[in-house]
Amino acid sequence: MFLAHISDTHIDGGDRATDRARRVMDYLHGLTRPVDAILVTGDIADHGRVDEYEIVAGLLDSPYPVLHLPGNHDRREGYRKVLGGPDGELNVVHHVAGHALVLLDSLIEGRDEGELTPQTLTWLAATLDGLRGTPTLIAFHHPPVRMHQAVVDQWLLQKPEDLAEVLAGYPDVIAILTGHTHTAAASTFAGLPLLIAPGVTSTLRLDWEPGEGLVDLEAPPGVAFHVVEDRRVMTHWRVV
Ligand SMILES: [Fe+2]
Ligand SMILES: [Fe+2]
Repeated sequence: MFLAHISDTHIDGGDRATDRARRVMDYLHGLTRPVDAILVTGDIADHGRVDEYEIVAGLLDSPYPVLHLPGNHDRREGYRKVLGGPDGELNVVHHVAGHALVLLDSLIEGRDEGELTPQTLTWLAATLDGLRGTPTLIAFHHPPVRMHQAVVDQWLLQKPEDLAEVLAGYPDVIAILTGHTHTAAASTFAGLPLLIAPGVTSTLRLDWEPGEGLVDLEAPPGVAFHVVEDRRVMTHWRVV
């Protein structure tokens, strides 16, 4: 499976965010090998407004399947109205090139941190029961582990141990993909690779980097490519 993973487009109606997202999509459409899917891990719109999602719908128009999930800047009502999705939490499963991609909704509307509700975790367990034998990737917005950056460390997935407990029963899950922190990064969680997409709209300024402000608006947008073969993920990060 060949997956392009982008995140945090923060479309707000302004030219800057739109131009960056367009630049990334043009780059993906110019690759010499087709991707099996493009995954967008949240903060797709900056304020969760319908007019923002209408711009998003145009930007994410692609010959490839575009799979998406909400972040803390998204709002379910506008998201669902334009991009679609189930009632309640926006949890969905997609089948891509012999793999399952389980996309979870970690949004708490009005909050920067995230959670997987008991309903979402119950849905996840039932979904993974039905996927036994299928190599599966799980994606959601908020990283479940400390990033070692003082501000974003306040905004992580809450109660990550509840997710780890569910995952312990499902050996077919091979990796976790997130966004939210606008930094190309890798770690582990629950014994699995945790692969974090860079931001399209901006790049996190680490505590030990010079400069003012939480993010660097000049740094180029980025993409993660995940190539999955024999249950092993190889990730390449690129700036665009
Ligand atoms: Fe974001
Ligand atoms: Fe976020």
